Amino acid sequence: MKTVLSGIRPTGNLHLGNYYGALLNFVRMQQENKCYFFIADWHSLTTHPDPTMINVNVKNVIAEYLAAGINPEVSTIYRQSDVPEVAELYLYLNMHARMGELAKTASFKDKARKNPDNVNAGLLTYPTLMAADILIHNADMVPVGEDQEQHLEMTRVFARRFNHFYNVDYFKEPVPFNFGHKLIRIPGLDGSGKMGKSEGNCIYLGDEPKAIEKKVKRAVTDSGPTEPNSEKPEIIENLFTFLRLVSDEEVNKHFEEAWNDCSIRYGDLKKQIAEDIIKVTTPLRERILDLRGDDAYLNKVLEEGAEKARENAAKTLKEVREIMGFKKL
Ligand code: TYM
Repeated sequence: MKTVLSGIRPTGNLHLGNYYGALLNFVRMQQENKCYFFIADWHSLTTHPDPTMINVNVKNVIAEYLAAGINPEVSTIYRQSDVPEVAELYLYLNMHARMGELAKTASFKDKARKNPDNVNAGLLTYPTLMAADILIHNADMVPVGEDQEQHLEMTRVFARRFNHFYNVDYFKEPVPFNFGHKLIRIPGLDGSGKMGKSEGNCIYLGDEPKAIEKKVKRAVTDSGPTEPNSEKPEIIENLFTFLRLVSDEEVNKHFEEAWNDCSIRYGDLKKQIAEDIIKVTTPLRERILDLRGDDAYLNKVLEEGAEKARENAAKTLKEVREIMGFKKL
């Protein structure tokens, strides 16, 4: 049995990028594997250190996890800050992480460029905290979107370096995972490369149907194909990416043919995409609303999850301490 782990920063509601990049893959894996899914609330402090929002966001995100199908009877769902063992492992891993490699990380450079007044040490060491999340459970597979690929590569480097330095074969080298395919990037419909919270172009799992229709209708397009069987420009390929995710094969075939014989009408394509996104999100939205009203249940899930996660984390930490030489005198 393999160990699977994934997580999401609680910095706002979950969007289709989170859903198709990480959550849905995780849900599909939970029956056959030992699965951990957590809320990366310490990571959110690197950009969103607002004490009044932490609990609001954690509550929203946990309701969304459960609504999306993560089953607390099968998987361990927990909040990062409930597992202090992660912080200790983060400290140890930081002793072997190099300034240069951390400063070169794409996400660090991007965030530092966007927020030059808040280039904090937590942001710099974001990849070591993420490695601690993964290595504390010695995960084999990590369902994530394409944007996390570099962080996973660094986790493998840290694991390898630890093993090499202490001359052990202790940490596994975890692989990023997307069910049966390469990692995906859900695009923004505004013509930007990626759907993301900071890009402000998200379709959220909890969006009302009217809001979804409006967002899809506004998607950027061009004047249409002029030659049969031509290659699709990126903004049009983005719409087809959505079609492949949410619509059935027949519908995909119809629009591919319409593209190829230049009869495509973008209005029809958008209408279809919106309709099929709404089919996916409506049952989720209803469950999210129910779950958000049930604090007692959400607290129970978090408490039980923390207990299970800590049990495994404590075991890892005990072994790591021994390897590193922290022993009885
Ligand atoms: P976060 O919160 O930015 O995103 C959560 C997950 O959603 C995926 N994702 C996407 N996938 C495809 N297309 C998109 N447009 C898109 N936007 C977001 C992300 O790839 C991610 O899988 N650092 C992580 C949280 C984290 C974590 C971990 C994940 C902390 N520790 C350990 C896995 C393992 C993050 O900020 O994800």
